[in-house]
Amino acid sequence: MNLMVFGAPGAGKGTQAKFLIEKYNIPQISTGDILRAAISEQTDMGMEAKKFMDEGKLVPDSTIIGIIKDRLAQDDCKSGFILDGFPRTLPQAEALKTLMDDMKISLDKVISLNVPDELIVGRITGRRVCPGCGASFHVEFNPSKIKDVCDYCGDKLVIRKDDNAETVKSRLGAYHAQTAPLIEFYTNMGVMVELDGTKDVSEVTKDMFNSLS
Ligand code: AP5
Ligand code: MG
Ligand code: ZN
Repeated sequence: MNLMVFGAPGAGKGTQAKFLIEKYNIPQISTGDILRAAISEQTDMGMEAKKFMDEGKLVPDSTIIGIIKDRLAQDDCKSGFILDGFPRTLPQAEALKTLMDDMKISLDKVISLNVPDELIVGRITGRRVCPGCGASFHVEFNPSKIKDVCDYCGDKLVIRKDDNAETVKSRLGAYHAQTAPLIEFYTNMGVMVELDGTKDVSEVTKDMFNSLS
């Protein structure tokens, strides 16, 4: 299964990707997580990307496409993968198409989680994330079993540096200007599934699995 979770910042992509990993036993490829790992390792790429991420802007396409090219070539992607937060621009979507054509594989489904902007700020400011495994929780809507401890790996949860009301505005701006046009791109490709992302986490998961069966 080659899947993509799609949606605005805070729509629930990372949250739902975790359930897909469990069910299909395929890796999640989150460009956001890969970039944050590069920042914590202080690589040149990470330091360059950090400037854009801290301002809520998109990292340049050339950097992102390079990351994905390397990642999809790894062995664990042979039986499928879940793209999360990639692609986010038309050039990225076109590069992905070329890459997958070359690999003789195709996308099975793009799962779009539709959540209006008004709900996004509350989701993002209450989020707690796991630096160990990338899992997301929410202090109110999706709390971890033990406060500030990851359910999956036991690491201490933290607040993401770009999770503040100010940066959220520019992230939403980037989403509407550069990423939302991909809905049409994937609808035309015949792989788009649009889900109501405002429902409870478990309801969204149920709808998602129904759309895949
Ligand atoms: P990235 O890490 O991808 O961030 P994002 O797109 O802003 O998305 P988020 O991770 O914030 O949201 P999510 O949809 O995963 O939501 P989550 O499941 O956590 O990217 C970060 C930055 O990196 C970008 O700004 C950019 O600079 C750069 N970047 C990354 N990829 C790039 C690319 N391809 N091109 C260029 N630049 C790139 O859920 C959010 C919260 O809501 C959580 O607290 C969760 O518990 C809660 N929640 C989830 N579902 C529900 C529900 N149904 N009801 C109530 N609460 C819920
Ligand atoms: Mg995420
Ligand atoms: Zn964890």
